[in-house]
Amino acid sequence: EQDIAGKLPLLGKKILVTAGPTYEPIDPVRFIGNHSTGKMGYDIARAAADEGAEVVLVSGPTHLKLLHNRVNVVHVTSSQEMYTACHEYFDGVDAAVAAAAVADYRPKVVAEQKIKKSESTLVLELEKTKDILASLGEKKNGQYLIGFALETENEIENAKAKITKKNLDLIVLNSLNDEGAGFGKATNKVTFIDREFNLQPMELKSKEDVAADIIDKIKKHYNV
Ligand code: CTP
Ligand code: CA
Repeated sequence: EQDIAGKLPLLGKKILVTAGPTYEPIDPVRFIGNHSTGKMGYDIARAAADEGAEVVLVSGPTHLKLLHNRVNVVHVTSSQEMYTACHEYFDGVDAAVAAAAVADYRPKVVAEQKIKKSESTLVLELEKTKDILASLGEKKNGQYLIGFALETENEIENAKAKITKKNLDLIVLNSLNDEGAGFGKATNKVTFIDREFNLQPMELKSKEDVAADIIDKIKKHYNV
């Protein structure tokens, strides 16, 4: 494909995007999940592809669809599957955006049979999942790495700590406190923080517009 009209600045660039929740199995019929719809990640994947990038969208369970000739949607269910899929593609990409709401904990043992109702209380032991984004940060080799941070207190400090801990180039801090932002909403109020801890608070906007801002950051990084 050629960028004859000059509208595909990201042509030739490969971008990995994670989206949606993960489901962590408890037994054959139950899981631990969260309310992520996947919309933010899907909007990012579409925006990148519309500008010419070849996109791998690693998606947890969602109702969303994305049919685009430059987007390869890789469907996963658990955080472990998302981890494996991300590492399969990360080496070959120019940038990665982790928009998935990955479960932080999963049942330590997955029951082989459906758990029967018996006692009045049930205790599930949970273990930490792998931090996918941090693992990508560790093996980063030139990729421009973008993460999200969802915070309810000490937002800026916590987000900065995530930049360092996960070796990110940019973090998109999501303010849940602001009305009209967050899970299931059409809008997001974000602040961009870069590696040098420069803060850029953005207006409340549609997730499509936030996605476009994120793609602009990648374009700026690559001078395209
Ligand atoms: N993330 C990830 N793998 C995990 C947990 C989080 O890749 N197991 C990514 C998310 O996709 C997001 C970023 O890490 O881009 C931050 O997620 P967040 O939940 O805000 O932070 P955590 O590091 O999980 O810390 P905490 O939930 O304690 O704030
Ligand atoms: Ca988390």
